[in-house]
Amino acid sequence: MNEVCKSGSIVILDFGGQYAHLIGSRIRRAGAFSQIFEAETPAQLLKDASGIILSGGPQSVYDSESPQADSEIFNLGIPILGICYGLQWMAKTLGGEVKSGGVKEYGKSKCKMQNAKCKIIDKLPNEIIVWMSHGDEAVVLPKGFELFGTSDSCKNAAFADEDRNFYAVQFHPEVTHTQYGDQLLKNFVSICNPAPWSIASYTEEISNQIKKEVGDKKVFMLVSGGVDSSVAFTLLNKVLGTDRVQGLLVDTGLMRKNEVKDVLNAFNKLGITNLYSEDASEEFFSNLKDVYDPEEKRKIIGQTFLDVQKRVSTSMNLNMEDGWLLGQGTIYPDTIETGATKYADKIKTHHNRIESVQKMIDAGEVIEPLKDLYKDEVRGLGQELGLPHDLVWRHPFPGPGLGVRILCAETPEQVSNEVSDDSKVQALPIKSVGVQGDGRTYRHAQVLYSDDRIPNKSHYGAAVAAVNALVNINRIVFCTSHSKPVDFVFTSSFTTKERADLLREADAIVHEEMVTAGLYEKIWQFPVVLLPFGENEGNQSIVLRPINSTDAMTANAVILPEDVLKKMTDNILDLEGIDMVFIDLTNKPPGTIEWE
Ligand code: XMP
Repeated sequence: MNEVCKSGSIVILDFGGQYAHLIGSRIRRAGAFSQIFEAETPAQLLKDASGIILSGGPQSVYDSESPQADSEIFNLGIPILGICYGLQWMAKTLGGEVKSGGVKEYGKSKCKMQNAKCKIIDKLPNEIIVWMSHGDEAVVLPKGFELFGTSDSCKNAAFADEDRNFYAVQFHPEVTHTQYGDQLLKNFVSICNPAPWSIASYTEEISNQIKKEVGDKKVFMLVSGGVDSSVAFTLLNKVLGTDRVQGLLVDTGLMRKNEVKDVLNAFNKLGITNLYSEDASEEFFSNLKDVYDPEEKRKIIGQTFLDVQKRVSTSMNLNMEDGWLLGQGTIYPDTIETGATKYADKIKTHHNRIESVQKMIDAGEVIEPLKDLYKDEVRGLGQELGLPHDLVWRHPFPGPGLGVRILCAETPEQVSNEVSDDSKVQALPIKSVGVQGDGRTYRHAQVLYSDDRIPNKSHYGAAVAAVNALVNINRIVFCTSHSKPVDFVFTSSFTTKERADLLREADAIVHEEMVTAGLYEKIWQFPVVLLPFGENEGNQSIVLRPINSTDAMTANAVILPEDVLKKMTDNILDLEGIDMVFIDLTNKPPGTIEWE
């Protein structure tokens, strides 16, 4: 973006961190107007900002290609807050010293605050839990800076030059895991005295933007039944009118039990009947035959969606050349995890960000009204639009559906010795995707066992410690069906209708138990994952993955009540073909919410 920032906005300079955009969302929630700019934006374009935030990023300040901002920003006379990489870049640029690779701190840590008078920690207690995700640290502070926070593994975790209103924190105040993170950002906002922002004014802004972008064209929208595409579809219908919008619900064969029927009913009840459904399940399964790699699967699913959309739109005479745009319910995390901003690492390709969609976006053929929002903001917008409670609060469900929860492998993944020594600990013969320090990982999960087959707090604690300590591991699961390791029997497997049917049943069991126990709205998302091995020949395993989150960028593993976990396990074990059940104890990071 090479334009001048809006007067009074708080500008976030994006160094490529997974949370750069989240900072923007938090600043909006604190009532201030915010904008994201590329790290290198010349300081001259930012001189009307009321403040600048330097985001985190996946690189080390000493990497040859590490992002550099314009150091003239320090002469603009406006408040600046550096976060994680932002702290390190600030420290190094202003004459301090940063040490590379000295620490490895991912996850929660305690931070002791040392200078209660510092404006940015106003109303914060003396000690808070903070979220860390870094390998480098500032070892010498720049001249004029004073320390105000020290964490478990990082002495210079927070420092400031209050005369110039420069602040730096090694932890991430923008993620919900950092206690009082919102307060710290609010304090920064007060220091900046920025232009105001509200959700109502934003709804109006989005509506105007849709009208402008669509012009006199019409929108053909892919609806998955998830919260995002439902809100986007409803918004487009409201802004453009139902005769200028056509929805398509593709049955991929990778949907939940009764999902297609339920979604069509929900929209019918809303009086939105311009939603057509197409059963393309055979096409999806045939394209996924013999495919094992998670990234390849995602791309194939995304491409098949597009092929079906083209086929259906042609048969309905709704072609791009005739003034139709493709609508998608993409939200911000889909974009950032695909590595769409300049320095961001690719965590996984979201189906609505595959290459051919990107080409259509570049050609101006796609409209994505929610692309700057996070899930909680989408829900706020859904409420603002008057959508029914159940629809707004449905658990998020990924576009590729069960496709990213059916783990495929041709041969068992090699298990490293490092993790197999302990008799109550075992590595799984399969890898899953994770995220650490803004980068993607693809590693083994480790299983913990105990006699009573119920994880306790110490298992959750051990999970955090183990992932920080072991290089080959990005996930810890606990076995709820067995009390000690078994010799896994692996079956070479890809995505088939039979596997999808089996997972659909397990997923339906979990859903029913959650509703019965009154837990549905207390848990943010509950993926259920199918693994291609079990205790006996030809059998498979199920992983339960209940998490809590507000924006999907970070997540906490949920501790389920013992009776609910036992019942889910027993009912799943009753399914023919499943003989092991695990529960995932991993937070995000280091795990991602989905396994692929
Ligand atoms: P991860 O697994 O990246 O998931 O921690 C973050 C959130 O995004 C959802 N998700 C997807 N949603 N297309 C989507 O529309 C995708 O390809 C996709 N992959 C993950 C996931 O369910 C979680 O809520």
